[in-house]
Amino acid sequence: MTLEQILLALHVAGTVLGLGQVGAVVPLALYARTKKGDRELLVLLRKLFATLSGSVAFVLVTGIAMDFASHGAWHRTLFFRIGFVAAIAIGACAGIAGSKLKKADASSEQAALGTAITLARVIAVITLLSTLLMVLKPG
Ligand code: HEM
Repeated sequence: MTLEQILLALHVAGTVLGLGQVGAVVPLALYARTKKGDRELLVLLRKLFATLSGSVAFVLVTGIAMDFASHGAWHRTLFFRIGFVAAIAIGACAGIAGSKLKKADASSEQAALGTAITLARVIAVITLLSTLLMVLKPG
């Protein structure tokens, strides 16, 4: 097994096991909206958004490491550059959602959950499009 193959396996594992958790965030946040004042659910959601941030950082680092391991074969390609921007966008969405949930009090909890649901959906769509992009490798 080559270094590139190991990095690719880690990259895909980070996508599936890490970013894939967004699939649990949306239903959990929808449920939290029906349980007003449940701080534990808000803490759990914040932890999940922190996991998404950590996962996208891992995916980004392994993606860049693959470029180094292949002596710069990827960084001029369109898919690599769009993937880079997609990763930053996912990180920003997860960061904003986590911060809204952290600052939420009784009066702003529902609004914070609404934002978290929207941003989790955006993360899911970006992850899906990025996966397609990485598999098809245009440019
Ligand atoms: C944003 C979320 C991302 C997702 C969901 C994702 C997903 C994937 C998947 C599923 C593959 C395997 C494709 C295949 O082998 O057919 C892949 C490959 C790859 N990804 Fe990503 N990726 C993401 C972000 C990034 C970033 C930020 C970079 C670099 C900055 C990157 C660089 C690469 C490279 C270079 C490959 C090709 C490696 C090879 O075929 O040897 N990815 N990605």
